[in-house]
Amino acid sequence: MNIVIKTENLTFHYPSGEEAEPRNILSDLNLEVEEGTFVAVIGRNGSGKSTLARHFNGILLPSGGSVTAFGMDTRDEEKLLDIRRSVGMVFQNPDNQIVSNVVEEDVAFAPENLGVPPEEIRVRVDEALNMVGMYDYHDRAPHLLSGGQKQRIAIAGVLAMRPKCVVFDEPTAMLDPVGRLEIMSIIDALCRENGTTVVLITHHMSEAAMADRIVVINEGRIAMDGTPREIFSKVGELDTLGLEVPATTLLLNELRDRGFDVGTDALSVDECADEIAAALKK
Ligand SMILES: Nc1ncnc2c1ncn2[C@@H]1O[C@H](COP(=O)(O)OP(=O)(O)O)[C@@H](O)[C@H]1O
Ligand SMILES: [Mg+2]
Repeated sequence: MNIVIKTENLTFHYPSGEEAEPRNILSDLNLEVEEGTFVAVIGRNGSGKSTLARHFNGILLPSGGSVTAFGMDTRDEEKLLDIRRSVGMVFQNPDNQIVSNVVEEDVAFAPENLGVPPEEIRVRVDEALNMVGMYDYHDRAPHLLSGGQKQRIAIAGVLAMRPKCVVFDEPTAMLDPVGRLEIMSIIDALCRENGTTVVLITHHMSEAAMADRIVVINEGRIAMDGTPREIFSKVGELDTLGLEVPATTLLLNELRDRGFDVGTDALSVDECADEIAAALKK
């Protein structure tokens, strides 16, 4: 397996004033993300998730240790453009990511800046707008779109670079449930159909449950690392870290506590329903 992102003993502190000792936000953090996988990162507010994500394409640079993306050290200035082309980043607030008054110009912005030849940009913009289901809106004004649609435009702007890895930092946090589902289905297809490596930071456990692997961050360190089934079976440990489990897991645990003979590791609503239906037939 190829490693896309690798942090080795990554330590980071933000610059501090003269009076204060710098406080480590990330401490000795070792993480490898395998190519083509979908990795979710969860952790309570302030645990360092966004700070970590910003290291993956060199927005932030390590105070200690190292970060490589596709084998390129993020501190190597000559590689920075290549790293930015390979690892795209989508943030929480779509309004902060939209830079143009016309959707297709907005989507063309990043590839233009990263030196994609003009004749190729047209092709990539159309391709990216189709991938997020927004082609019909190509000549609209982004500020007139809904939050979810704006976020899809922001994602298209990143996809137009054809990155091999995309890092999403709480991309659904400002969206309504319908907008959230649309974004999650784009993220899922990006990994499952396109083969793009995905890192998703989220506080929605149902979203994390869709990943191949969940990494739990606590106080700038990796506290847990495993498949969604492994992670969500540790209800007590998650609780100590200030995290919830998916509603499906909670429901099955509750039913078992009340004497029903159900397994508790179902994650999707479908699997959960199967589990309950089977128990009812017993
Ligand atoms: N630009 C900054 N300057 C100083 N401290 C920061 C900055 N950004 C975040 N922090 C601090 O770093 C810690 C981790 O923040 P962050 O990475 O945003 O966590 P998360 O994304 O998990 O909520 C928090 O204590 C936060 O206050
Ligand atoms: Mg954050």
